[in-house]
Amino acid sequence: QDLAVDVITIFPNYLAPLRESLLGKALERGQVRLGVHDLRAWTTDVHRTVDDTPYGGGPGMVMLPEPWGRALDAVAPAERAQPRLIIPTPTGRPFTQAVAAQLAAEPWLLFACGRYEGIDARVAEYAGGRMVVDEISLGDYVLCGGEVAVLAIVEAVARLIPGVLGNALSASEDSFTAAVDGLLEAPAYTKPALWRGLAVPEVLLSGHHARIRQWRRERSLDRTRKRRPDLLDS
Ligand code: ADE
Repeated sequence: QDLAVDVITIFPNYLAPLRESLLGKALERGQVRLGVHDLRAWTTDVHRTVDDTPYGGGPGMVMLPEPWGRALDAVAPAERAQPRLIIPTPTGRPFTQAVAAQLAAEPWLLFACGRYEGIDARVAEYAGGRMVVDEISLGDYVLCGGEVAVLAIVEAVARLIPGVLGNALSASEDSFTAAVDGLLEAPAYTKPALWRGLAVPEVLLSGHHARIRQWRRERSLDRTRKRRPDLLDS
């Protein structure tokens, strides 16, 4: 087994897509282990309460530390080897291909999905006492909870594990990787060479590898300049 993933959430069904497609195949092969846990299993009241109003006032609800503490203790018992804890939050550090590569080197990832206005901040502080805690943001926008971020992060990480992606080379030459100098990839084409009056760029049919490489480099730079000038500055 190359990767273990646990997810604690109040919406376990939200994570069902992780069992589809490429990742599903990796699960069947036993390359990846996936555990999805319902946070409400660690509540103790009849209403299975997971949140309350924020101290200091303000809108929304904050997730209670008690269920989270019990959930972490159950999924990652303190006396054993610890996972890396990932808490998706818009206040986290940005998720990038480089972060995905870092996470792909870990044997065990535990995701804590917050909803509402987030999880009581002491949960991350407590967990930091025994595991590496990584608060990660998918981007500068606010989702309703961490679940969709987990889908994105797990997919980006899993496809970097050798044998999970069909074609190992394609991951190493993706956008944002060293192979394209951290830039966006050039556009791609397949058959037919002429479709609805639109032709595939001649150079790609030439078999001239040096010219193709140069063409892709130029398209990659054009695209990056237009769409992501921030990538050129760094
Ligand atoms: N939860 C809510 N918004 C999020 C975001 N942008 N990234 C990660 N987790 C989130």
